Amino acid sequence: MLLRQEVDEKNKNISGGNKMVSFLGTLPSIESVSSALPAVVLDYMTESQLTETYHMIQKAAKYGHGFGFQEFSSEDDFRNEISGSRCFAVTCKEEGTLLASLILAQSKFYRGSDQVVDPYIIVKYSDRCKGLGEFCMRQAIKLSVSFGYIAMYIDTFANNVAILRIIDKIGGFQQVGCLPVGGCLPCGKFVPSIIFYRNLLIGEENNNT
Ligand SMILES: CC(C)(COP(=O)(O)OP(=O)(O)OC[C@H]1O[C@@H](n2cnc3c(N)ncnc32)[C@H](O)[C@@H]1OP(=O)(O)O)[C@@H](O)C(=O)NCCC(=O)NCCS
Repeated sequence: MLLRQEVDEKNKNISGGNKMVSFLGTLPSIESVSSALPAVVLDYMTESQLTETYHMIQKAAKYGHGFGFQEFSSEDDFRNEISGSRCFAVTCKEEGTLLASLILAQSKFYRGSDQVVDPYIIVKYSDRCKGLGEFCMRQAIKLSVSFGYIAMYIDTFANNVAILRIIDKIGGFQQVGCLPVGGCLPCGKFVPSIIFYRNLLIGEENNNT
């Protein structure tokens, strides 16, 4: 997994200021997301932020928000599921608190090595509907291109209106499938999953035509 500690370690071992992965040099970045939010910082995630992310996901799953009920049985299970991923945190610049997490995991829909990405996005409950989800998705696309992923699959529950709105707003995604039984909600009902695909090898303009 690529976390802040690993990035610092890599940079320490590189002489002359040349970064081993060119993208590492551009983070952290300070961003203005929307008028509803103060400035935020996008950076690699720390170990403790990964643990916080796990708890945010567990809370979301408990209310049927984007993650299946008991999708992850423990933090170890979660970490295992996202092994090999690149993890980013969006924090409040002033207070340093975690507002949203973005994890670029390897897609299970590609039977090969690390070439197709599956973005996990979660926004802290109290900071939703302020533009952070859309910001994270746009960053997920940009970061994925920088890392050389060739494509992105998003697997989202059919009842996830927020992420469906974000996908529609950004454009350039193709709905390529629907799994009738995608996950389970806390009430015991099954929910379908919709699968979206984005080609990351063609430019933004061509993806939006
Ligand atoms: C999905 C999620 C990341 C969206 O984050 P967010 O910061 O609330 O989203 P944004 O503020 O960027 O909203 C984007 C759009 O969705 C709309 N939206 C957000 N939440 C909504 C809701 N509950 N119902 C209807 N529309 C909603 C917003 O109004 C906005 O549309 P607009 O620009 O036309 O007004 C967030 O709800 C979340 O963390 N959910 C739990 C985890 C999850 O579902 N992750 C995705 C798994 S694939």
